[in-house]
Amino acid sequence: MITLRAMTPTEYEAWLDTSTDEYALEKVKAGNWPADDAKARALAEYAGYLPQGTATAGHHLFTIADAEDRAVGMIWIATDVHKTPGRCWIYDLRVDEHQRRRGHARAAMLAIEAVAREHGQTVIGLHVFGHNTGARALYESLGYGVTNVNMAKPLV
Ligand SMILES: CC(C)(COP(=O)(O)OP(=O)(O)OC[C@H]1O[C@@H](n2cnc3c(N)ncnc32)[C@H](O)[C@@H]1OP(=O)(O)O)[C@@H](O)C(=O)NCCC(=O)NCCS
Repeated sequence: MITLRAMTPTEYEAWLDTSTDEYALEKVKAGNWPADDAKARALAEYAGYLPQGTATAGHHLFTIADAEDRAVGMIWIATDVHKTPGRCWIYDLRVDEHQRRRGHARAAMLAIEAVAREHGQTVIGLHVFGHNTGARALYESLGYGVTNVNMAKPLV
């Protein structure tokens, strides 16, 4: 069993550092950004989405807490900022490495559906990198379907 609780400022700072590190790495791996300025680009992108951090209107950042109320991960959803009415967006989901494959992400994804409904949302969207097979398996098992596919061929 998990609960979602509002992220504290300390948790936010730690998450921002880790998440932008990993996002930068994913962008480099996916061939979108050069390695040298990837972290700066990631920080700039996040600042654009979250100019007021956890207090940014329409954005909800939660810590995922386990049955003993220990933080095991986080989830970030935006409910009122998408151009399409009723369509919200999950920007990030992560579970601490040593807490994985215990069903925490699945439970958090189901719990976030209630948050979305409370805000009058009817569809949840998200982006996942093609090479993130674990996350893709999770989302597919929860009923998410593919809406866009980017393709690339390295020219050698
Ligand atoms: C993706 C992530 C959130 C999954 O968290 P988790 O708590 O381990 O996921 P769950 O235990 O709820 O997994 C539920 C199901 O998803 C699938 N799944 C999850 N991780 C998987 C993996 N690494 N490989 C294959 N399938 C996986 C499985 O079907 C799993 O069910 P099972 O364990 O009974 O086989 C976690 O690996 C993570 O934080 N990764 C780094 C950040 C990230 O990639 N986030 C997603 C951004 S789009």
